[in-house]
Amino acid sequence: MCGIVGYVGKRDLIPVLVGGLRKLEYRGYDSAGVAFLKDDRLNVVKCKGRLTNLEEKLGGVSVEGSIGIGHTRWATHGEPSDINAHPQTNAVGDLAVVHNGIIENFRQLKSWLQAKGIRFVSETDTEVIAHLVNYYYEGDLRSAVLKAVKMLEGSYAIGVICLNEPDRIIGAKKDSPLIIGLGKGENILASDFPALLEYTKEVYILEDNEVAEITENSIEVFDTLGNRVEKEVFKVDWNLDQAEKGGWEHFMIKEIHEQPVAMHDTLMARLHDDRIDLSEINLNEEIIRSITGIKIVACGSAYHAGVLGKYVIENIGRIPVDVDIASEFRYRMPSPILSENELFIVISQSGETADTIAALREAHKKGAKVIAITNVKGSTVSREADFTMHTQAGIEVAVATSKGYLTQVLCLYMIAAEIGRIRKTITEEEYSAFIDNLKRIPDCLREILKEKGQIQQLAASRFSDVHEFFIGRGMDYALMMEGSLKLKELSYIHSETYAAGELKHGPIALIEDNTLVMVLATQEALIDKVVSNIREVKARGAFVVAMTMNRYAEKFEHDSDLIIRLPDIDDMFAPILAAVPYQLYGYYTAVNKGCDVDKPRNLAKSVTVE
Ligand code: G6P
Repeated sequence: MCGIVGYVGKRDLIPVLVGGLRKLEYRGYDSAGVAFLKDDRLNVVKCKGRLTNLEEKLGGVSVEGSIGIGHTRWATHGEPSDINAHPQTNAVGDLAVVHNGIIENFRQLKSWLQAKGIRFVSETDTEVIAHLVNYYYEGDLRSAVLKAVKMLEGSYAIGVICLNEPDRIIGAKKDSPLIIGLGKGENILASDFPALLEYTKEVYILEDNEVAEITENSIEVFDTLGNRVEKEVFKVDWNLDQAEKGGWEHFMIKEIHEQPVAMHDTLMARLHDDRIDLSEINLNEEIIRSITGIKIVACGSAYHAGVLGKYVIENIGRIPVDVDIASEFRYRMPSPILSENELFIVISQSGETADTIAALREAHKKGAKVIAITNVKGSTVSREADFTMHTQAGIEVAVATSKGYLTQVLCLYMIAAEIGRIRKTITEEEYSAFIDNLKRIPDCLREILKEKGQIQQLAASRFSDVHEFFIGRGMDYALMMEGSLKLKELSYIHSETYAAGELKHGPIALIEDNTLVMVLATQEALIDKVVSNIREVKARGAFVVAMTMNRYAEKFEHDSDLIIRLPDIDDMFAPILAAVPYQLYGYYTAVNKGCDVDKPRNLAKSVTVE
């Protein structure tokens, strides 16, 4: 969480910093600020709220041929306020720091510094860094930063500037991402690629404990001992227009509509002659035959993708799959259990989620080979995993994921098919049919998107709901976890996912007249059971919206208030299609309520703190 940028070069740096922060707002948006050198002074402008407030406060100032740093915040220490906004400075105000991460020993450091007479003005952990660097400063900013970061426990990506060294920015990182864009006569520091794309696609990716010294014509990177480190140039293959709304009202709706292409690209990248090629993750015959189980670890929607993957892999590949939330897995007491011959998979759209990275490292400690499914090439997860399957979703900007999630699901389907084929739990014919169904998905999604009017109407009639239920059985239950989360994140309506058969063990007490119960029922073998569950909630006054394929729709006519029809596809693939109407439902409900759809309150897209 939190986005940082830094610029050194000839341009007016205000648009570079503010434009960069706009691209990083998905990382947090409680407050924003910049610090820059102008007129032989270090100037700090910062304020609570969105970037537009900061722009207003900057009042059109231009700063050419100088250095500056900027920050967009997701508050961890201290409420969102002008004072707690970054940059934070030393006492005399000639040194400024922006920071993404959490300094866990900040209280000890603060007391230590206070005992030396230093006065703190904010509640942030970041202010400690500014005073520490100042404390160690003896005319060389880089060595002061190096000494300061050695004192820090926790995670940080920082950018530091000071008045005495007006030609350089110092960057340093541990457990939070930091990259440097390589320009000509200019260089840019940032938390993530979108902030740089307008200027360069060539970057250095900093590794933990590295410190970078950046001037307009040089970038030098050092290890903790102060030795020079040679960096390789990483080329970003994303385009700037992927990070723009391109005529859509929100990124969320744009990205929902990009799913047919994202799914097509993700599939085609590893489909050769109608065979799935998983050599990128080294899933060869020998490994697939030898594994006895699979563990999938992830957070948020990526976790939901894992749960759906479990159903598919167990069905097709007949291998037990255990899915765990990364923040739980990493702290399993006394330590997580990984069995020998268990395949370990982490899933993360951003590749920067702190808990997922920690889970990956935990698995490495236990000697496991880690497979990652991620959308971001060059991300920490992608670099640290032994093998990586990149989803081809393109840049995802909206905080609530859509195409990121669905392409992760697709990767798990592909893994399931390969396991099934190699372990002969499906026949060659079934494998071919499986591939054919996967190929049909983009067109089916297009069809669903064309029919979005029905969902729009439903959202318009229910946006004042206080809570809703999302129920299903089997794979449908797994999909409903994501459907319900979309509604919650986007519209702030409380929604519960329940396994349809479990509802009567408690939550049914909450059903009253007109409570909306969303029901997904795409699995023929379970339809009669689900219909019984519908009757149970109908008998208590629920308003039931059932979703199923055309061919099963009549089974729901009697007991449902509304039926949403999915294109006919094999049951196994229907949950993939069902994701889209629920994304649309969350989106339109949020729009009706006037919510900030792309940046829901209290959330951040990339959760780089635990
Ligand atoms: C945040 C986002 C979610 C995302 C989760 C995991 O909570 O708001 O949309 O699913 O992080 O992110 P990852 O990048 O690891 O998939």
